[in-house]
Amino acid sequence: MKILIGNDHAGTELKFEIMKHLEDEGYEVKNFGTDTTDRVDYPKVGEKVAEALVAGEGDLAVLICGTGVGITLAANKVPGIRAGVCSDTTTAHLIREHNHANIIGIGARIVGPELAKDIVDSYLNAEPMGGRHQERVDMITAIEKKYSR
Ligand code: RB5
Repeated sequence: MKILIGNDHAGTELKFEIMKHLEDEGYEVKNFGTDTTDRVDYPKVGEKVAEALVAGEGDLAVLICGTGVGITLAANKVPGIRAGVCSDTTTAHLIREHNHANIIGIGARIVGPELAKDIVDSYLNAEPMGGRHQERVDMITAIEKKYSR
């Protein structure tokens, strides 16, 4: 499975920890984020990763900023993206199982590295459940279509 990863300056250190963890687990990881702590604008990174994901460059993605929120909000503006921020492992598997989220957001200033790795594992090891959950995801897609020009 190929995982896309992106981060702003607040997420650089955690990005490297998560990348190493995922590579050790056998995932292929493509890095779209900054590798320094010089300031960058999280919307640009969120958009870049989201575009690459909908273009089929990877299977799922991880986005990291200070809270995980800004970069996730930006990614969610790209049609086809369902991104959710997680600070616990239960939400992490449920956003995949129920919401069919294709991106997980993590706040580097909110969760420590060990919990962040557990959160990412919980997300990646889950599968979309389909059924009634697919119907609700389809409703979200319908909203997206209704408001896109
Ligand atoms: C950067 O200081 C910070 O605003 C950003 O990383 C993120 O937390 C935004 O949501």
